[in-house]
Amino acid sequence: MKLPDGFLLGVATAAYQIEGAAGEDGRAPSIWDTFCRTPGKVHHGDTGDIACDHYHRMESDLDLLSELGVGAYRFSIAWPRVLPDGSGRANQKGIDFYRRLLDGLHARGITPMATLYHWDLPQTLGDRGGWRNRDTAQRFAEYVAVVAEALGEQVPFWVTVNEPWCSAFVGHLEGRHAPGETSLEAAIHAAHHLLLAHGLGVQALRAANVKGSVGVTLNLSDVTAVSDQPEDLSAAARIDGNENRWFLDPIFKASYPPDMTSWYAASVDLSPLHDSDLEVIGVPIDFLGVNYYEQHVVKADTGEAIHGAAKLRPVPPVTDSGVSVRPQGLAKVLRRVAGEYTSLPLYVTENGAAFNDYITPEGRVEDPERVDYLSQHIDAVGRHVSDGVDVRGYFVWSLFDNLEWADGYSRRFGLIFVDFGTQERIVKSSGRWYRDLIASQHENSATGVATNATVRQDGRRYTA
Ligand code: FCB
Repeated sequence: MKLPDGFLLGVATAAYQIEGAAGEDGRAPSIWDTFCRTPGKVHHGDTGDIACDHYHRMESDLDLLSELGVGAYRFSIAWPRVLPDGSGRANQKGIDFYRRLLDGLHARGITPMATLYHWDLPQTLGDRGGWRNRDTAQRFAEYVAVVAEALGEQVPFWVTVNEPWCSAFVGHLEGRHAPGETSLEAAIHAAHHLLLAHGLGVQALRAANVKGSVGVTLNLSDVTAVSDQPEDLSAAARIDGNENRWFLDPIFKASYPPDMTSWYAASVDLSPLHDSDLEVIGVPIDFLGVNYYEQHVVKADTGEAIHGAAKLRPVPPVTDSGVSVRPQGLAKVLRRVAGEYTSLPLYVTENGAAFNDYITPEGRVEDPERVDYLSQHIDAVGRHVSDGVDVRGYFVWSLFDNLEWADGYSRRFGLIFVDFGTQERIVKSSGRWYRDLIASQHENSATGVATNATVRQDGRRYTA
């Protein structure tokens, strides 16, 4: 596996999935606290009240990151910890937690990547319509300004919003995520306001003159039609239009894809999608984060009212979450973004898989499927770096087993096993494999050392 010098190999997490301490030090509830308490929504009634108890174990968790030797750590900042009322009063204890986390990362030579919104919208804003309400985007900008002011010196990489497609469509159309709505119109309006929040967030970071690079993370899938029949091709184009282009086009072309706006206009009031917002949404950024999990094979299906399209059942090999293992899909997605949208640096900000991991009688956790999965995907990334696609880093989802949203604690994605009864952490064989991979990268690199330096799009060099 050949990755270029300076290529960042990291791991990713998100606040609600690992922190716990849900009611401590001034943190207010988020829409996920509410959703987890809504009967039937989250597997086993699990909540993020304790999760990996990372809030209390942050220092020893940072030591685990050091043991793995990762070059970078992507985490998210909890809006309801920093601005418990959604706007207005800042909570110093919340800010201090992230300051200590950032200090701890820098002290260990690990490059931080901070995501500003990974789905934990303060409930107070949820009560006012959440992402369906345009005002939430303004409140996001306010929150970003507070974080930038407090932590701006310490963060080399900012991600405004994580996977706006999931927040919008899984949360407002499919109803499987908070806030659990099931309306296409709500989803389209939420998507627009999340995109607007991204643009306003970028502007807030620039206005605060932060030193770090600024980007956004999209979950992009590889979508192919089951056949060359025109109906299947256009069904696939709609799924691609919904999951990929609905977000890539506004961000990189400052416009929505016209085929999709005409499709949606038949059933949705698109007037909240102000044309003038597109300039804000398309504001220049420094990098794109790509989360890759899925390939969809799509066929036309008139029974599916929303997009007239059905996704075929994934064929093996599949992960425990029932998604196909398709590393070539990651390669396609990266090539497509570079070919059709942007020459900006790309970071794979999440990729990983859930498998049914358990502790052996010897106290070990062996997960050869995950080693295969990760090595195939990292290899696919590595090939593309040499093909001229500017991929600069890869983050495994996830550092730990954690609260996998609606699946609760039933899906284990970690390089590190967490026994949720005792909070014991056990590095899985995939964690040891990743550590060895990172060590071998360092040995092979020309300088012999990992570099935490990145070059911003504007050519300024930021060294952590
Ligand atoms: C992504 C989310 C992340 C995690 C992985 C498995 O969609 O961004 O929080 O749940 O899926």
